[in-house]
Amino acid sequence: MVTASLASAIIRSASAQCTQRSSSISRLSPALNANPLGNRCRHYFSSLPNDAPSSRSSPSQPNTIESYVSGPTTHFGFTSVSINEKERKVRQVFENVADNYDVMNDFMSGGLHRYWKDELLKMTGVGPMAKVVRRRASLNYAANSDLKSGDGMNGKAAVLFSILDVAGGTGDIAFRFVDAAKCEERSKSSGSDEISVTVCDINPEMLRVGESRARKRFGSAILDETCALKFVEGNAQYLPFDDNSFDLYTIAFGLRNVTDVDMALRDAYRVLKPGGRFLCLEFSHVTNLPLAKLYDLYSFNVIPQLGQMVANDRDSYQYLVESIRKFCTQEELVSRMETAGFEGVQFTNMTGGIVAVHEGWKPL
Ligand SMILES: C[S@@+](CC[C@H](N)C(=O)[O-])C[C@H]1O[C@@H](n2cnc3c(N)ncnc32)[C@H](O)[C@@H]1O
Repeated sequence: MVTASLASAIIRSASAQCTQRSSSISRLSPALNANPLGNRCRHYFSSLPNDAPSSRSSPSQPNTIESYVSGPTTHFGFTSVSINEKERKVRQVFENVADNYDVMNDFMSGGLHRYWKDELLKMTGVGPMAKVVRRRASLNYAANSDLKSGDGMNGKAAVLFSILDVAGGTGDIAFRFVDAAKCEERSKSSGSDEISVTVCDINPEMLRVGESRARKRFGSAILDETCALKFVEGNAQYLPFDDNSFDLYTIAFGLRNVTDVDMALRDAYRVLKPGGRFLCLEFSHVTNLPLAKLYDLYSFNVIPQLGQMVANDRDSYQYLVESIRKFCTQEELVSRMETAGFEGVQFTNMTGGIVAVHEGWKPL
């Protein structure tokens, strides 16, 4: 298959993974307001209309003559569009691709996206962390023999580790967390779970596909009884969650689609608990020239054609390719994360910089 052979050529010529550290800038952490998610088993709707700018932060201001006439603009692939237009168009793209999204990911990347997502999972440390959390909970229950899991919580165990996967789409990343934390097993033996995984996405179509995949794969108890897995509609720029709610925030192949990246980074910081961790897996900039040429050739010539052949939708896949080229460089994203308040920011290139994982911490 053409994609598979191109993908393996790309892997062969890709340089080894490289991690770069950047100096972290200390910042004052905002007032602590420990307010863990209490709305278990409830599906959220964004508290703000998706097109409305948040009262928490202002949208980009006009900075060109044209933008004073037509309002602030941004890019949609290689085209310049108004801010509202971008959000509408991105929504349309993912509405169009929702049903074919998972198949197309395999076609376009020759299966590589699975490897990148598995690497992201390893970097989050969710598997080992879940073991520690579950062990600690069972020791607590054993030490207080009267205290059963969930006593005092209306029969529900208190959530000790909460994960938010933003722009989570059809659930690929969240399902890895559920597997690593053994939430499915737990849902078959208990009515509650100390670990919670929330998928948040702006697009109800992507969430619909994700939720139906989750029911098929894990059964319904995880969604309706233990509520260890939730699907919530919301915009990364003004998430429908309380401040200081999550231990881990991930966003995979989502940040470049968000209209105002800085606003999304600030909101990620807001919803993380102090000491919480942010990880972003995103297409990035290839560092090796011959690989960059091969990758350009493949992206611009093959991917839109594949979109046409498999999903009967060339334009959406043309946008995906262009949006990757317009997204900021590895170093720019480090600096934007630091500006949002994250500390210990670093990135890891994979497959020669075709993708990169950026990570940072919300300080205590
Ligand atoms: C390329 S998909 C990635 C899905 C999933 N994370 C994965 O890796 O398979 C991008 C997702 O970002 C979502 N998205 C775009 N803009 C968003 C926003 N402002 N807030 C939340 N989600 C957004 C889209 O609806 C889409 O589901």
